[in-house]
Amino acid sequence: MSAGRLWDKGGSLDAKILAFTVGSDPILDLRLVPFDIHASIAHVQMLGSCGHLAADEADALVKGLESVGADFKAGKWSIETSQEDCHTAIEYHLTERLGPLGGKVHLGRSRNDQVLTAIRLFLKAEIGAARGRLSALLEAFDRLIAAQGSIAIPGYTHTQQAMPSSVALWAGGFSGELASCAALLDAAWALADQSPLGSAAGYGTPGLTLDRAETARLLDFSKVQEPVTAAQLSRGKAESALGFALVQILGDLGRLAADICLFASQEFGFVRLDDDVSTGSSIMPQKRNPDVFELIRGHATQAQADLLALLGLTTGLSSGYHRDLQLMKEALFRLVDRGAAVMEIAAYALGRIHFDAARAAEITTPGIHAAERAFTLVQSEGISFREAYRRVAAEG
Ligand code: ARG
Repeated sequence: MSAGRLWDKGGSLDAKILAFTVGSDPILDLRLVPFDIHASIAHVQMLGSCGHLAADEADALVKGLESVGADFKAGKWSIETSQEDCHTAIEYHLTERLGPLGGKVHLGRSRNDQVLTAIRLFLKAEIGAARGRLSALLEAFDRLIAAQGSIAIPGYTHTQQAMPSSVALWAGGFSGELASCAALLDAAWALADQSPLGSAAGYGTPGLTLDRAETARLLDFSKVQEPVTAAQLSRGKAESALGFALVQILGDLGRLAADICLFASQEFGFVRLDDDVSTGSSIMPQKRNPDVFELIRGHATQAQADLLALLGLTTGLSSGYHRDLQLMKEALFRLVDRGAAVMEIAAYALGRIHFDAARAAEITTPGIHAAERAFTLVQSEGISFREAYRRVAAEG
């Protein structure tokens, strides 16, 4: 049976073609169901206030959508391959409950603007969560600096001891960079915060007047995306902007993790990991491995691959909707999940590293004070920096 393809006109679709074109949507779209229900309710309310639905019809549709959403939350339905995606599955369940009235929900919209809207709502929720995780991460750095900041450690360039540094200076560099990534999250928010709803298939609804400002307001978008043709051109942009923000955040955490792996090695040895964050080896009884930090570093690289997958899908694509765009969800979800997992575990693990002041002093070479000595000579003897540099170098 046609368990609800919206566009089904009675013909049959090859099962192989259906399975291939639907792809992973029945699984991926599960995450979009609550957002699509939310957007559908706003759309129905707008149709009601524009007079395209009678008040009792709009009311029944809103209640129907709420109960379809509640049943989904209760695990009473999931998306069938024959339904293709969350949009069709929701309309199918609505029509099952309300009969032909359910078919009125789709007036003036298309799955093309529906999927954009659901993803924007998803993105805004994710950006909000990422902001919270970023704050938690910055607090973890603050705690590390408050507890261990004054410990002296060497500062490195080219993996060679270069200058005197401290835990506060080392950790502060990372937290400063991470804090500046908030601006990237804000940029992603600005792109996501415009309502594509009402652009329908991508060209608006000639002959039907909709109140796009009302659905934007009901869904908490700060503006309507104009003109309608911009909506499909923008698919992937807010996604990639969030992806770029996450790649930068994970990039900082990857470099932090690389430092920790190095500093916790026997040769450096001035970072110790709590037993409960380091893992053992199955063959070497003495090993305490920094796997959590190695995986943070690995995820930072994989996040870049996810971002490239997002960016690549729209490169060179002619305007308007194309089914290629469907594949974007897979990379997007992978990237936001990776970002969330890494940010959370990094904040947690950061509270379980200990700098060993005595060991740091032991491995520190006196050479790291050479530039400092030259600065002192310049100021005490009034000589040029080049002259001071030569004198300090000659002292050895
Ligand atoms: N599952 C589709 C997507 O994510 C929804 C839109 C389908 N539209 C269409 N005309 N086939 O892009």
